[in-house]
Amino acid sequence: VTEVIVVGSQAEAGELVARSILRLIGKKPDAVLGLATGSTPLPVYHALAGLLAANPVDVSRVRGFALDEYVGLAPENPQSYRSIITREVVEPLGLNPALIQVPNGAEATAEHAGEEYERAIVAAGGIDVQLLGIGTDGHIGFNEPGSSFESLTRVKTLTRQTREDNARFFPSPADVPVHCVTQGLGTIRRARRLLLLAFGEGKARAVAGAVEGPVTASNPASAIQLHPKAAVILDEAAASQLANLDYYRFVWDNKPPWQQL
Ligand code: PGA
Repeated sequence: VTEVIVVGSQAEAGELVARSILRLIGKKPDAVLGLATGSTPLPVYHALAGLLAANPVDVSRVRGFALDEYVGLAPENPQSYRSIITREVVEPLGLNPALIQVPNGAEATAEHAGEEYERAIVAAGGIDVQLLGIGTDGHIGFNEPGSSFESLTRVKTLTRQTREDNARFFPSPADVPVHCVTQGLGTIRRARRLLLLAFGEGKARAVAGAVEGPVTASNPASAIQLHPKAAVILDEAAASQLANLDYYRFVWDNKPPWQQL
Protein backbone atom coordinates (compact mmCIF):
# COMPACT_ATOMS: atom_id res chain seq x y z
CA VAL A 1 0.00 0.00 0.00
CA THR A 2 1.30 3.45 -0.82
CA GLU A 3 1.50 5.67 2.21
CA VAL A 4 0.90 9.35 1.44
CA ILE A 5 2.35 11.98 3.76
CA VAL A 6 1.64 15.65 3.19
CA VAL A 7 3.98 18.07 4.92
CA GLY A 8 4.12 21.84 5.24
CA SER A 9 7.42 22.46 3.51
CA GLN A 10 10.26 20.90 1.60
CA ALA A 11 12.45 21.28 4.68
CA GLU A 12 9.97 19.28 6.73
CA ALA A 13 9.92 16.54 4.08
CA GLY A 14 13.73 16.49 4.07
CA GLU A 15 13.87 16.19 7.83
CA LEU A 16 11.33 13.35 7.93
CA VAL A 17 13.10 11.31 5.28
CA ALA A 18 16.57 12.08 6.66
CA ARG A 19 15.54 10.78 10.09
CA SER A 20 14.21 7.61 8.53
CA ILE A 21 17.50 7.07 6.68
CA LEU A 22 19.52 7.70 9.83
CA ARG A 23 17.45 5.13 11.74
CA LEU A 24 18.22 2.65 8.97
CA ILE A 25 21.97 3.40 9.15
CA GLY A 26 21.79 3.02 12.94
CA LYS A 27 20.40 -0.49 12.50
CA LYS A 28 22.51 -1.36 9.45
CA PRO A 29 25.78 0.61 9.24
CA ASP A 30 26.48 -0.69 5.72
CA ALA A 31 22.98 0.17 4.47
CA VAL A 32 22.54 0.42 0.71
CA LEU A 33 20.91 3.72 -0.30
CA GLY A 34 19.32 4.34 -3.68
CA LEU A 35 20.22 7.94 -4.48
CA ALA A 36 18.24 10.30 -6.68
CA THR A 37 19.41 13.49 -8.39
CA GLY A 38 17.37 16.53 -9.44
CA SER A 39 16.10 19.30 -7.18
CA THR A 40 13.63 17.18 -5.23
CA PRO A 41 15.94 15.11 -2.99
CA LEU A 42 18.13 18.10 -2.07
CA PRO A 43 16.19 18.89 1.15
CA VAL A 44 16.82 15.28 2.25
CA TYR A 45 20.57 15.59 1.70
CA HIS A 46 20.64 18.99 3.43
CA ALA A 47 18.75 17.62 6.42
CA LEU A 48 20.99 14.57 6.58
CA ALA A 49 24.12 16.74 6.53
CA GLY A 50 22.67 18.88 9.32
CA LEU A 51 21.67 15.90 11.48
CA LEU A 52 25.07 14.26 10.98
CA ALA A 53 26.88 17.47 11.93
CA ALA A 54 24.81 17.78 15.12
CA ASN A 55 25.01 14.13 16.06
CA PRO A 56 27.81 12.25 14.27
CA VAL A 57 27.00 8.72 13.14
CA ASP A 58 29.51 6.42 11.45
CA VAL A 59 28.60 6.53 7.75
CA SER A 60 31.94 5.17 6.50
CA ARG A 61 30.36 1.86 5.44
CA VAL A 62 27.20 3.26 3.85
CA ARG A 63 26.86 2.17 0.24
CA GLY A 64 24.92 3.91 -2.50
CA PHE A 65 23.63 3.46 -6.02
CA ALA A 66 22.46 6.39 -8.11
CA LEU A 67 19.30 5.94 -10.16
CA ASP A 68 20.67 7.10 -13.46
CA GLU A 69 23.32 8.86 -15.53
CA TYR A 70 23.44 10.70 -18.84
CA VAL A 71 25.17 8.96 -21.72
CA GLY A 72 28.04 10.88 -23.23
CA LEU A 73 28.92 13.34 -20.47
CA ALA A 74 32.39 12.87 -19.02
CA PRO A 75 32.19 11.91 -15.33
CA GLU A 76 33.98 15.18 -14.48
CA ASN A 77 31.40 17.26 -16.37
CA PRO A 78 29.65 19.25 -13.63
CA GLN A 79 26.23 18.12 -14.97
CA SER A 80 27.03 14.41 -14.97
CA TYR A 81 25.13 12.63 -12.24
CA ARG A 82 28.47 11.27 -11.02
CA SER A 83 29.56 14.88 -10.36
CA ILE A 84 26.21 15.84 -8.87
CA ILE A 85 26.13 12.85 -6.51
CA THR A 86 29.70 13.63 -5.41
CA ARG A 87 28.92 17.33 -4.86
CA GLU A 88 25.46 17.03 -3.29
CA VAL A 89 25.62 13.74 -1.43
CA VAL A 90 29.05 12.15 -0.99
CA GLU A 91 30.96 15.27 0.09
CA PRO A 92 28.36 16.93 2.35
CA LEU A 93 27.54 13.65 4.11
CA GLY A 94 31.13 12.45 4.29
CA LEU A 95 30.38 9.14 2.57
CA ASN A 96 33.15 6.90 1.27
CA PRO A 97 33.24 7.70 -2.48
CA ALA A 98 34.51 4.19 -3.26
CA LEU A 99 31.22 2.76 -2.01
CA ILE A 100 28.98 5.00 -4.10
CA GLN A 101 28.19 3.83 -7.61
CA VAL A 102 26.64 5.65 -10.55
CA PRO A 103 25.79 3.93 -13.85
CA ASN A 104 28.61 4.21 -16.37
CA GLY A 105 27.47 6.70 -18.99
CA ALA A 106 30.45 6.26 -21.30
CA GLU A 107 29.11 6.12 -24.85
CA ALA A 108 31.44 3.36 -26.04
CA THR A 109 30.33 0.87 -23.38
CA ALA A 110 26.76 2.01 -22.75
CA GLU A 111 25.36 -1.19 -24.25
CA HIS A 112 26.75 -3.19 -21.30
CA ALA A 113 26.41 -0.58 -18.57
CA GLY A 114 23.02 -1.87 -17.47
CA GLU A 115 24.05 -5.48 -16.88
CA GLU A 116 27.15 -4.35 -15.02
CA TYR A 117 25.09 -2.12 -12.76
CA GLU A 118 22.53 -4.82 -12.04
CA ARG A 119 25.34 -7.21 -11.06
CA ALA A 120 26.76 -4.61 -8.68
CA ILE A 121 23.37 -4.02 -7.04
CA VAL A 122 22.84 -7.76 -6.58
CA ALA A 123 26.38 -8.18 -5.21
CA ALA A 124 25.62 -5.45 -2.65
CA GLY A 125 22.61 -7.45 -1.47
CA GLY A 126 20.05 -5.10 -3.05
CA ILE A 127 18.97 -1.57 -2.24
CA ASP A 128 17.50 -0.98 1.23
CA VAL A 129 15.80 2.31 0.57
CA GLN A 130 15.37 4.01 -2.78
CA LEU A 131 14.80 7.76 -2.92
CA LEU A 132 12.75 8.89 -5.91
CA GLY A 133 11.68 12.13 -7.50
CA ILE A 134 9.01 12.14 -10.18
CA GLY A 135 9.06 13.81 -13.58
CA THR A 136 6.20 15.97 -14.80
CA ASP A 137 5.48 13.05 -17.17
CA GLY A 138 5.50 10.51 -14.34
CA HIS A 139 8.99 9.18 -14.92
CA ILE A 140 10.97 7.73 -12.03
CA GLY A 141 14.66 7.39 -12.63
CA PHE A 142 14.62 8.11 -16.34
CA ASN A 143 11.93 5.52 -17.04
CA GLU A 144 9.82 7.51 -19.44
CA PRO A 145 6.17 6.68 -20.19
CA GLY A 146 5.93 3.27 -21.82
CA SER A 147 8.75 1.74 -19.78
CA SER A 148 8.25 -1.90 -18.87
CA PHE A 149 7.42 -2.60 -15.25
CA GLU A 150 9.95 -5.45 -15.40
CA SER A 151 12.75 -3.36 -16.94
CA LEU A 152 16.24 -3.46 -15.46
CA THR A 153 19.06 -0.93 -15.81
CA ARG A 154 19.52 -0.06 -19.48
CA VAL A 155 19.96 2.75 -21.99
CA LYS A 156 16.85 4.88 -22.54
CA THR A 157 16.04 7.84 -24.78
CA LEU A 158 14.83 10.93 -22.94
CA THR A 159 11.53 12.49 -23.95
CA ARG A 160 11.40 16.00 -25.33
CA GLN A 161 9.58 17.02 -22.12
CA THR A 162 12.36 15.70 -19.87
CA ARG A 163 15.04 17.33 -21.98
CA GLU A 164 13.14 20.64 -21.73
CA ASP A 165 12.68 20.18 -17.97
CA ASN A 166 16.43 19.62 -17.54
CA ALA A 167 17.61 22.25 -20.03
CA ARG A 168 17.97 24.73 -17.15
CA PHE A 169 21.16 22.95 -16.12
CA PHE A 170 22.83 23.15 -19.54
CA PRO A 171 24.17 26.02 -21.68
CA SER A 172 21.42 25.37 -24.25
CA PRO A 173 18.56 22.86 -24.64
CA ALA A 174 20.50 21.16 -27.43
CA ASP A 175 23.24 20.31 -24.93
CA VAL A 176 20.94 18.05 -22.89
CA PRO A 177 22.00 14.49 -23.72
CA VAL A 178 19.54 12.36 -25.68
CA HIS A 179 20.33 9.07 -23.95
CA CYS A 180 20.75 7.94 -20.38
CA VAL A 181 21.47 4.77 -18.43
CA THR A 182 18.75 4.30 -15.83
CA GLN A 183 17.71 1.74 -13.29
CA GLY A 184 14.58 0.06 -14.63
CA LEU A 185 11.17 -0.05 -13.03
CA GLY A 186 11.97 -3.68 -12.19
CA THR A 187 15.20 -2.57 -10.48
CA ILE A 188 13.32 0.09 -8.52
CA ARG A 189 10.60 -2.37 -7.53
CA ARG A 190 13.24 -4.71 -6.06
CA ALA A 191 14.40 -2.08 -3.57
CA ARG A 192 13.14 -3.01 -0.13
CA ARG A 193 11.60 0.39 0.46
CA LEU A 194 10.61 3.29 -1.81
CA LEU A 195 10.42 6.91 -0.70
CA LEU A 196 9.10 9.17 -3.45
CA LEU A 197 9.16 12.92 -2.90
CA ALA A 198 7.42 15.59 -4.94
CA PHE A 199 7.01 19.33 -4.48
CA GLY A 200 5.05 21.95 -6.38
CA GLU A 201 1.96 22.27 -8.52
CA GLY A 202 3.82 21.04 -11.60
CA LYS A 203 4.03 17.55 -10.12
CA ALA A 204 0.41 17.31 -8.89
CA ARG A 205 -1.02 15.56 -11.93
CA ALA A 206 1.78 12.99 -12.17
CA VAL A 207 1.52 12.33 -8.41
CA ALA A 208 -2.26 11.81 -8.50
CA GLY A 209 -1.85 9.40 -11.41
CA ALA A 210 0.95 7.53 -9.65
CA VAL A 211 -0.92 7.11 -6.36
CA GLU A 212 -4.57 6.86 -7.40
CA GLY A 213 -4.63 6.29 -11.14
CA PRO A 214 -4.52 2.96 -12.87
CA VAL A 215 -1.23 1.06 -12.80
CA THR A 216 -0.03 1.90 -16.27
CA ALA A 217 3.22 2.22 -18.15
CA SER A 218 1.87 5.59 -19.31
CA ASN A 219 2.62 6.83 -15.79
CA PRO A 220 5.76 4.89 -14.82
CA ALA A 221 5.55 6.13 -11.22
CA SER A 222 2.31 4.15 -10.83
CA ALA A 223 4.69 1.17 -10.40
CA ILE A 224 4.88 2.23 -6.75
CA GLN A 225 1.37 0.76 -6.30
CA LEU A 226 2.90 -2.68 -6.87
CA HIS A 227 5.42 -2.17 -4.05
CA PRO A 228 4.59 -3.39 -0.53
CA LYS A 229 6.54 -0.61 1.19
CA ALA A 230 6.25 2.65 -0.69
CA ALA A 231 5.71 6.09 0.79
CA VAL A 232 5.08 9.34 -1.02
CA ILE A 233 6.06 12.58 0.73
CA LEU A 234 4.46 15.69 -0.72
CA ASP A 235 3.98 19.37 -0.11
CA GLU A 236 0.43 20.77 -0.33
CA ALA A 237 0.83 21.83 -3.96
CA ALA A 238 2.04 18.42 -5.15
CA ALA A 239 -0.80 16.76 -3.19
CA SER A 240 -3.47 19.10 -4.54
CA GLN A 241 -4.96 16.70 -7.12
CA LEU A 242 -5.30 13.67 -4.83
CA ALA A 243 -8.91 12.56 -4.34
CA ASN A 244 -8.39 10.80 -1.00
CA LEU A 245 -6.34 13.48 0.70
CA ASP A 246 -8.52 13.58 3.84
CA TYR A 247 -7.98 9.88 4.39
CA TYR A 248 -4.19 10.13 3.97
CA ARG A 249 -4.09 12.93 6.54
CA PHE A 250 -6.26 10.88 8.91
CA VAL A 251 -3.93 7.87 8.55
CA TRP A 252 -0.84 9.99 9.27
CA ASP A 253 -2.46 11.76 12.25
CA ASN A 254 -3.38 8.38 13.74
CA LYS A 255 -0.17 6.59 13.02
CA PRO A 256 0.80 4.08 15.68
CA PRO A 257 4.11 5.12 17.25
CA TRP A 258 5.79 1.83 16.27
CA GLN A 259 5.02 2.47 12.62
CA GLN A 260 7.45 5.27 11.85
CA LEU A 261 8.35 6.29 8.32
P1 PGA B 1 13.32 17.36 -10.20
O1 PGA B 1 13.31 16.13 -11.22
O2 PGA B 1 13.52 16.73 -8.85
O3 PGA B 1 14.46 18.21 -10.60
O4 PGA B 1 11.98 18.00 -10.33
C1 PGA B 1 12.58 14.99 -10.89
C2 PGA B 1 12.74 13.95 -11.97
O5 PGA B 1 12.88 14.31 -13.16
O6 PGA B 1 12.70 12.75 -11.65
